[in-house]
Amino acid sequence: MARVTRSYICQSCGAETRQFFGRCPSCGSWNALVEQAAPAADTRRRRPVPTPGAATVPAAARRSEPIQAVGERPLQRLCSGYGELDRVLGGGLVPGSLVLLGGDPGIGKSTLLLQSAQAMAGRHSVLYVSAEESAQQVKLRWRRLAEQQPAAPPPATAPIDRPVPGPGLQLLSETDLELVLQELEALRPAVAVIDSIQALHDADLGSAPGSVAQVRECAAALARIAKRQDTALLLVGHVTKEGMLAGPKVLEHLVDAVLTFEGDRFASHRLLRAVKNRFGATHELGVFEMRGQGLAEVLNPSELFLGGDAPSAGTATIVACEGTRPLVVELQALVSTTSYASPRRTATGIGTNRLHQILAVLEKHLGLPLSRFDCYLAVAGGLEVEEPAADLGVAAAVVASYRDLTLPPGTVLIGELGLGGQLRPVAQLELRLQEAARLKARRAVVPKGSGLSKGVAGLEIFECSTVAEAMVRALGAGASIHERDP
Ligand SMILES: Nc1ncnc2c1ncn2[C@@H]1O[C@H](COP(=O)(O)OP(=O)(O)OP(=O)(O)O)[C@@H](O)[C@H]1O
Ligand SMILES: [Mg+2]
Repeated sequence: MARVTRSYICQSCGAETRQFFGRCPSCGSWNALVEQAAPAADTRRRRPVPTPGAATVPAAARRSEPIQAVGERPLQRLCSGYGELDRVLGGGLVPGSLVLLGGDPGIGKSTLLLQSAQAMAGRHSVLYVSAEESAQQVKLRWRRLAEQQPAAPPPATAPIDRPVPGPGLQLLSETDLELVLQELEALRPAVAVIDSIQALHDADLGSAPGSVAQVRECAAALARIAKRQDTALLLVGHVTKEGMLAGPKVLEHLVDAVLTFEGDRFASHRLLRAVKNRFGATHELGVFEMRGQGLAEVLNPSELFLGGDAPSAGTATIVACEGTRPLVVELQALVSTTSYASPRRTATGIGTNRLHQILAVLEKHLGLPLSRFDCYLAVAGGLEVEEPAADLGVAAAVVASYRDLTLPPGTVLIGELGLGGQLRPVAQLELRLQEAARLKARRAVVPKGSGLSKGVAGLEIFECSTVAEAMVRALGAGASIHERDP
């Protein structure tokens, strides 16, 4: 009888111990160790899986060589069928690469990958492995995506790329890793989707599906086969309640790209970002819209994040840059007298610490008594704006709400605020201004010294060196009155 060895695996970091601890000795997480019973290593049913590139080369012949002598193969990317997905991947799927797609439950991961698999199936052989849903469930979704007629699309979005039934899409509903590997070897598809990695199960390991050991082993086995037969693998990954990718960190190191699919539960648009990418830039943004008949690409996202209504007090427009893509986004601020001992500051789409810092700069350098006021800030469309180039827009929205002023229509504000009240230059200013001009902006308030070599057609540009000067340029002389108590 096989001797059973017991070990404890941390569900947070993947560390393995022989003894139970309440706190993981490696990462310090409490109650994260889970017992795992595994047969002794020598009795385990292990298929010999050669390492990448080792299949044809005998071990003795594998030696180092000068980098100049290493043969090159042109990188031929596979088009995923969706320009927005290709953009985030850095230009398309790379054969033999592993891409991990994470996102909240129900956000649309399976929908995105099934649509993309179907779009690719016309040109390549594609295997869709559904470990979470039955073949009938996937078929129902496939039929809905293929057959439902699109409703009249709004002008900002592209026409729906309706999947047409192609010969190349194979479906397998299976959770056993061994059977999935066998099918991959038999079919040798160009692309395979695994939905999801947490639902796969390696029968040789004693632990439950989704545990750290299972996820690590399944991903490693899939990676080996993908590299060996040049199959591009798209893996769906679950996220924890904190929004992090579930499973061991080693999973993120193992794959070539990590994409996150996010979105507001109350809005229909979905944002796809690259957190890690070995074949392209990170922080590229893809925008989709969820409709009854599936996900549609949004080709002009700036129109999605613009209010569209007549400007009101406390509204400002900024141009944020997501990777190489400029986005014109509307911000709204509400400043009202506080009835609390310490005023409330709530920010949606911008870090609260950033808001605190901007309010402190305005209090100090414009003399506004903001510590006696509550301040609420929201970014339209549920976008998360992290870059400091949004500071000047936040400041203008706060001052406009406080003074009950309306920014002249067609005004955009771009700039980072220093703690001394100075405006700091921002990157890619010309790109941002061109996007603003394309969306009919007429005035732009920007930091001095951003290296703007020439003007932008149709745009009046005001270069300012301090926040006080920028507020006067944006809102008029009414914004400048210094009224703080001495
Ligand atoms: N019949 C339908 N009509 C319209 N929209 C639908 C329909 N069925 C599903 N959806 C949309 O698709 C979303 C679910 O998509 P999907 O199953 O791809 O998500 P997921 O990220 O794979 O979820 P999970 O993590 O549970 O696997 C739903 O939240 C809903 O918005
Ligand atoms: Mg799913």
